[in-house]
Amino acid sequence: MTEIIKPGSSLENFSRIVKLLTGGKIIGLPTETVYGLAGDATNEQTVATIFALKNRPGFNPLICHFAHLQDIHTHCFVPPILEDLARAFWPGPLTVILKLKPSSNISSLTFAGLDTLAVRIPDHPIALEIIERFGRPLAAPSANPSESISPTLPEHILKAFGGNPSLALIVDGGPCKIGLESTVLDLAHDKPVILRPGEISKESLEKIMGDIEDFAVTQNKNIRAPGMLKRHYAPTIPLRMNAVSVQPGEALLAFGENVIESHGTVLNLSPSGNLMEAASNLFTMLHQLDHPQYTGIAVMTIPQQGIGVAINDRLKRAATSL
Ligand code: TXA
Ligand code: MG
Repeated sequence: MTEIIKPGSSLENFSRIVKLLTGGKIIGLPTETVYGLAGDATNEQTVATIFALKNRPGFNPLICHFAHLQDIHTHCFVPPILEDLARAFWPGPLTVILKLKPSSNISSLTFAGLDTLAVRIPDHPIALEIIERFGRPLAAPSANPSESISPTLPEHILKAFGGNPSLALIVDGGPCKIGLESTVLDLAHDKPVILRPGEISKESLEKIMGDIEDFAVTQNKNIRAPGMLKRHYAPTIPLRMNAVSVQPGEALLAFGENVIESHGTVLNLSPSGNLMEAASNLFTMLHQLDHPQYTGIAVMTIPQQGIGVAINDRLKRAATSL
């Protein structure tokens, strides 16, 4: 079975992890958003293995994780506005799409042969320590099979990939603080566009950089984030949103204090109606309810404000059937 290690402050553990990464191996990496499947972004074979492990289509590029803005300059053209965004949000749950420098040695599989690269500096002490010690960017998609629920605990990775020889080990960094993937902001084209909503809202980005195009509008036009339109984050049983009643056999994912009547299993994303708490519980509870003993998961309405926009984005994709 795949080993889970808690590196703590043990130098030995960190050198072991770095040695594995240097040797082209893949690890389960904790971040503040969700766990990633991380490997050397400059190693073609490693990146190919990440895609294979996730069963991810090759046209859907990966995010590169860095520890310092200066290292991003090595690989990408950095617009001046990024300095301000970095001061406000990094380390943190913001991914930006930048034009790639032709001199970059990052494997072209990582960015799916596009001329842009997705980059972020994660806000997790263990992730930062690993990246810093490794000294190269880490390509890391969320550590779930393509289309399924993202992992917020080491056990979720174990359930999906445990025993798979391509995964060297899982680094335990505890439960993910935010529980939803980073906001993805495209800065590589004429107008900034949010490609994926997350904890960092459009409003908080606009305070720093002025008008941003709405991802919802953009989605109907051309697809810039190749991974964004499909069914995604989906449990193996059906999920339906804005439930006002519960069908026999369904489990209920509730929100707030006025829970609708149910005679079966009920989990509450946030009994007090706190959206941040709901976000951090979303994938963990979906993992818990994703069981064939239920005919489906009914989810109560989540307010479309703040991080609720990101929660509803994930739920909508999870509710899309094959
Ligand atoms: O919070 C996160 O971002 C997590 C943690 C592990 O960092 N990672 C994550 O990666 O969510 P992933 O691979 O599950 O999602 C990356 C998203 C996809 O929708 C992908 O299409 C988009 O970013 N993306 C990556 N590179 C891109 C590029 N060059 N242009 C447009 N979209 C890109
Ligand atoms: Mg993902």
